[in-house]
Amino acid sequence: MTETVLFERKDNLAILTLNRPDQLNSIDEDMRNRLQSLLRELSNDADVRVILLKGAGERAFCAGADIKGFGKVDSTAGYRNQRLDGHWIHTFETVRQPIVAAIHGYCLGGGLEIAMACDIRIASEDAQLALPEVTHGIIPGAGGTQRLARLIGMGPALYMTLSAERIPAAEAHRIGLVSKVVPRAELETAAEQLATKIAGFPPLATRYAKEAVKRGFEMPYGDGMALEIGLSTLLTTTEDRLEAAAAFREKRKPVFKGR
Ligand code: HXC
Repeated sequence: MTETVLFERKDNLAILTLNRPDQLNSIDEDMRNRLQSLLRELSNDADVRVILLKGAGERAFCAGADIKGFGKVDSTAGYRNQRLDGHWIHTFETVRQPIVAAIHGYCLGGGLEIAMACDIRIASEDAQLALPEVTHGIIPGAGGTQRLARLIGMGPALYMTLSAERIPAAEAHRIGLVSKVVPRAELETAAEQLATKIAGFPPLATRYAKEAVKRGFEMPYGDGMALEIGLSTLLTTTEDRLEAAAAFREKRKPVFKGR
């Protein structure tokens, strides 16, 4: 059986590819389980400094949940399981390393919810992003209603969530939903170059930077400041900080060890 998520290592980079291209990489149970277990494993792997997520095939990053599998569900049992841990897409946010999403083609529903749970989004010019859940009689229930408003503000988030309209990459860039738009042919290289660049930085610094911004955003200002002081002080104790300064003084390339 073909793997629903492909996994590849390139030095300190882990590359995950959603791999159901003939179904526009829609998320079935196997893909969901495999993504979760890979992310948990990678989060604990000190050699992995950045994770890159992309979609296989020409047409989509991910067209959302597998609608063909929609049917009657036991909502109460589901709620009991998810109540404390949140939706499975939350796993992306528990990963220590930065995650870069390379988005092409359709990025819909659960696909956009996954992309929003990543830390950096780069799109190609052909990308189309939407939350069409209401058209299916549901709402974005994997964190989408919360993450979208935090990323782009309440007004645009309500527009996208209620209108279900697909927005093109350029518009997604204008409203801050993606950080960069590149031609389709350049997406993989651009995303990999960015991920490799970040993987070349001292890994504790990039992990703590992610934690400070993401966790701090959820906190009152004073608590966020305290979190920042704690993480920033911890980083002053690392060998990599001394190595960065030494390399600067000696005009050479630094070698970081993640310590
Ligand atoms: C299952 C899907 C799918 C999906 C596409 N396919 N999206 N299968 N679930 N979400 C399948 C099609 O059935 C078809 O399979 C093949 O992929 C190619 O798609 P077509 O529809 O033939 O292509 P096209 O006519 O070009 O239309 C593309 C499309 C359309 C506009 C993206 O496929 C579409 O509207 N898909 C649904 C998008 C959506 O509403 N997503 C949100 C789901 S709700 P066959 O076998 O027929 O060739 C959601 C909730 C999140 O995500 C929950 C948390 C995770």
